[in-house]
Amino acid sequence: TKLVTVNTLRKMKADGEKFVTVALYDAPMAAMAQKCGVQVLLIGDSLGMTVLGYDSTVPVTMEQMIYHIEAVARGNSKSLIMGDMPFMTYASTELAMHNATRIMQAGAHMVKLEGGAWVADTVHKLTERGIPVCGHLGLTPQSVNKLGGYRVQGRDAASAKTMLRDAKLLDEAGADLLVLECVPSSLAEDITAAVSMPTIGIGAGKDADGQVLVINDILGLTEHPPKFSKNFLIEAGDIPGALLKYSDDVKNGVFPADEHSFE
Ligand code: KIV
Ligand code: NA
Repeated sequence: TKLVTVNTLRKMKADGEKFVTVALYDAPMAAMAQKCGVQVLLIGDSLGMTVLGYDSTVPVTMEQMIYHIEAVARGNSKSLIMGDMPFMTYASTELAMHNATRIMQAGAHMVKLEGGAWVADTVHKLTERGIPVCGHLGLTPQSVNKLGGYRVQGRDAASAKTMLRDAKLLDEAGADLLVLECVPSSLAEDITAAVSMPTIGIGAGKDADGQVLVINDILGLTEHPPKFSKNFLIEAGDIPGALLKYSDDVKNGVFPADEHSFE
């Protein structure tokens, strides 16, 4: 069995091959997803909403993340495991070093954190010491109270310019991946072309190097699903079928379509 590493994803970007990520939280789903061709398993802090019943990601703790990362790691044998760093656990570089260590020791191969320029030095320090980092720009849910709601980011010229600058700063700092959430497709395309690291889109159009969806949305568990998501269970009929269809549709450029994207 060939393991997915950061090199696999870089090669896929270079070859123009799309890769597939799912945010999921437990062992059986991890086992099924890796079997269905999902390269990256993200234990997102979305678990605050998708599993734990909070109304944002802000209350999520390190202990909760670790509990679920360990569960996913037990179910996985070949995909790359990425663990989200929750709200305020990387507010300083010192704090980030400590908490990223815990996430890696729980079984993650990479950590993910939200933010632009302010986090670049932390990204540099983490990667220098051997912890791969995925950045996250656009709609950054940990900042929902500052953003004033869950909405598309980077729509005006000034914020688009800042996002492109932030992406380049993260790339130069040594980040290995970048999530772009709820950004206009053309901006995601520009950022993807401007950085050496692979990008992962969610509500960012078809031109990101990979795509990510939350398992609850794929399986129709979300009461008010976001525009960028799709219930793959309806057509597929069962969970492995839904994961395979999502995975195939991303690889073949069928998902996301215009209806799942912003302009
Ligand atoms: O927490 C999460 O699931 C995420 C993805 C939606 C990118 O951050
Ligand atoms: Na997240």
